[in-house]
Amino acid sequence: MPVVLGIETSCDETAAAVVDGQYHVVSSVIESSIDQHRAFGGVVPELAGRAHVTTLGPVVARALHDAGLDPHDPAIAGIAVTSGPGLIGSLLVGLSAAKAWALAWNVPFIGVNHLEGHLFAPLLERSDLEWPLLTLLVSGGHSMIVLQHGPGQHEVLGETIDDAAGEAYDKIARWLGLGYPGGPEIDHLARQGTAGALKLPVSMTGSDFDLSFSGLKTAVVRATQKHEDVALADVAASFQAAVCEQLLRKLRGAMQKYEVRGVALAGGVAANSLLRAGVDELAGEFGVVAHLPTLAMCTDNAAMIAAAGVYRLGVGQTSDLSLSADPNWQLADVR
Ligand code: KG4
Ligand code: ZN
Repeated sequence: MPVVLGIETSCDETAAAVVDGQYHVVSSVIESSIDQHRAFGGVVPELAGRAHVTTLGPVVARALHDAGLDPHDPAIAGIAVTSGPGLIGSLLVGLSAAKAWALAWNVPFIGVNHLEGHLFAPLLERSDLEWPLLTLLVSGGHSMIVLQHGPGQHEVLGETIDDAAGEAYDKIARWLGLGYPGGPEIDHLARQGTAGALKLPVSMTGSDFDLSFSGLKTAVVRATQKHEDVALADVAASFQAAVCEQLLRKLRGAMQKYEVRGVALAGGVAANSLLRAGVDELAGEFGVVAHLPTLAMCTDNAAMIAAAGVYRLGVGQTSDLSLSADPNWQLADVR
């Protein structure tokens, strides 16, 4: 069965994976330079780019080897690589290498939108996925509600008008003196706290499905300055409850408006325990299937990029070797 090699280098993960035509993950390798960034409280683009340069070759060789393929001349149907959005220096490392391998091995190459990649993650774990599907895609760089009519057919219903949900988690964690990335730290602490301890607003934007987190961020800063005695775990629980409340309210609104067969989570924030429980409950309420990818599939990986490549290759959409990286490539512009 023909397989596609996927490559992901848009941020701090250097990843490669092999996925077959039935969307089965044959191999998947992920290395992260996150340890180099922790001290700076965020990903340092220059460091991430350099790490990809040294790590990508071995990671691709390992993914091919694990899939039982010859790393020097693999029998693959194509190479899919993230060409945006993301950090320009990091994107260029993966894109340039993918072009070189595509030329050397004489196979087609496909530039994949990173966000479309995230949308393919649930499909890799459930081949019985049914459409239309409503997906809440929440990561460190993006937050949006997407209506999927089928693989590769998506309609962005709304997105954040300021910060991404993960970005808000990371910034609040930093304000509270917690480590980076902040999402897992706050999620962990929140389980030991009381959500009602701090009164926080649930942001509601004018548009039905747009999201906003910057007002909440300011409210947390003000409230913690005013009530210095509130325990850290209670602050974490109150913040987490406000974030999830907004996300779930918007998602519920979309479920009421559009008749879908399932609701899915994607992106790094999809690892959040409260959000996962909330989406599960929402799915039950509407009698549809909840697709909650495993934590490894929520965060950045190359299997999701390879999956998008399998789809694009299947409909005959390959890229020209002159394709350049687009650090701001919008999901709504993917056709
Ligand atoms: O999708 P991802 O791995 O990278 C991007 O493309 O951005 O998402 C990373 C983001 C970070 O902001 C991190 O704090 C957040 O996902 N995150 C979480 C949790 N685990 C990771 N946010 C909330 N709760 C979590 N358990
Ligand atoms: Zn991502």
